Amino acid sequence: MDKNFYITTPIYYPSAKPHMGHAYSSIIADFFARFKKIDGYDVFFLTGTDEHGLKIQRAAEKKGVEPLEFCDEISQTFKDLSKVLNLTNTDFIRTTEKRHKISVQNLWDQLKKNEDIYLSKYSGWYSISDEAFYSEDEIEEIEGNKRSISSKSSVEWVDEESFFFKLSKWEKPLLNFYDENPNFILPESRKNEVISFVKNGLKDLSVSRKSFSWGIKVPGNEDHVIYVWLDALTNYISALNYPDKKDNLFKKFWPASIHLIGKDILRFHAVYWPAFLMAAKIPLPKKVYGHGWILSGEEKMSKSKGNILDPLEIIKIYGLDPLRYYLIKEVSFGNDGNISKERLEDCINSDLANNYGNLCQRVTTFAIKNCNGKIPNEIDFSEVDLKLLNKFKSNLENLRYKIDNQDINYYINFIVECLFETNKYFNDQEPWKKKDQKIRLNTIVYTTLEVVRKISFMLFPIIPHSALKALKIFNINEEEIIFSTIENHEYLKRGSSINSIDILFKKIEKEND
Ligand code: ME8
Ligand code: MG
Repeated sequence: MDKNFYITTPIYYPSAKPHMGHAYSSIIADFFARFKKIDGYDVFFLTGTDEHGLKIQRAAEKKGVEPLEFCDEISQTFKDLSKVLNLTNTDFIRTTEKRHKISVQNLWDQLKKNEDIYLSKYSGWYSISDEAFYSEDEIEEIEGNKRSISSKSSVEWVDEESFFFKLSKWEKPLLNFYDENPNFILPESRKNEVISFVKNGLKDLSVSRKSFSWGIKVPGNEDHVIYVWLDALTNYISALNYPDKKDNLFKKFWPASIHLIGKDILRFHAVYWPAFLMAAKIPLPKKVYGHGWILSGEEKMSKSKGNILDPLEIIKIYGLDPLRYYLIKEVSFGNDGNISKERLEDCINSDLANNYGNLCQRVTTFAIKNCNGKIPNEIDFSEVDLKLLNKFKSNLENLRYKIDNQDINYYINFIVECLFETNKYFNDQEPWKKKDQKIRLNTIVYTTLEVVRKISFMLFPIIPHSALKALKIFNINEEEIIFSTIENHEYLKRGSSINSIDILFKKIEKEND
């Protein structure tokens, strides 16, 4: 079996600087990318910015700069954020790049050639904020202002010549595809929404605009620019150099293993994108996962609501790994999740400082004092030690399965449980009372260190920097982190030195403590 894994985030609009919602999608994608990498996969992880369309053009006009200049600046802040978030993205695509334009125009030509595109006229509602067309029954009117019922963004009337994509033709094939690939759209509840949308009937889709110019030109008809979503979705293959098959990227990584997106853009990814691909005779991605929203004060974070948590600000106060840990653990993946500093602080104190950090510190200090600073040589496992160690071995396949089904919460709860158990084990075994039972003392230390090693491997995709810091105890570096080794309970080399480490996480002093 091919061990290739291709994961994407949405490409974000550089209309304003990134916020916590963007950071969330990217961190989750990075978690999967890192996990797959330590599990022996060749990983391609893509993120980027979506730079064309009326939304960007208007934002640039408002600032009085050229659209490209405007995009250069904000796209850079997204690139910078990728670094700050410690993302392992393979590439960062911008839709204003030449390589992307070549792909989009090629895809257009394929659609044209296969007679899926025709010229007509669009009259209807359009939301610039969503870059989406809405039908009459998707619109509501509040105090004279028309807006989309689902996104609440305002719509304006469009009446212009436009190329259309024959979306209606793909209604049946899409429904068949969903039927034959029950895991294509996840989570399950979202899938049902998409299916009922398609079952309600698909109308042909306007895929070009004539009244503005900030976009990729329609080949052979330069008065039109290609609809920004057709343009944007193509990033997933333009980054693999589609249609150029010379360097094999496309052959190796397409179809994508998973498009990770927020639920706000599910329709584009689960309906339009597969229809475009079917029409162009390109294989479909294996999975589209629409995660929930990060809420702040029970509401979706958005610029217009002014309730945005700035990831950079949070990272400055608490550090990156606590934020990564918190977002991955505390938001039940797939659902909306309310976040607050209060709960982030609890997470740092209980899970990271007390549970993980303390265990690492405690066993290392003890081993340095009582085992000559070395991984103990003479050991003899008893049942209680093996029970703890074998939990990893017996769960290896299960953990992989959970990850392949995006059950992140299972994975992290497994870790937290093991940490609790190991802290309890160390307490109950009382190695400090066993100074005259050298082998027993050694075995307790060995077992605990081995669990610290395994858990640090498992934590690496979540809190890479801190896990590596902990692994310094054993002089293990990043290249040596291999997931499957968690089943080996004699991984640590007996007799080799161990190092003391700095405190991994500082506890937060809370006002009402
Ligand atoms: O839609 N909670 O870009 P965008 C969780 N350019 N995730 C959130 C979020 C929140 N409050 N807010 C944003 C676009 N996101 C298009 C995508 S893809 C071919 C083109 C995340 O800047 C989430 O992943 O509006 C959401 O789908 C995405 O940012 C939307 O980013
Ligand atoms: Mg948006």
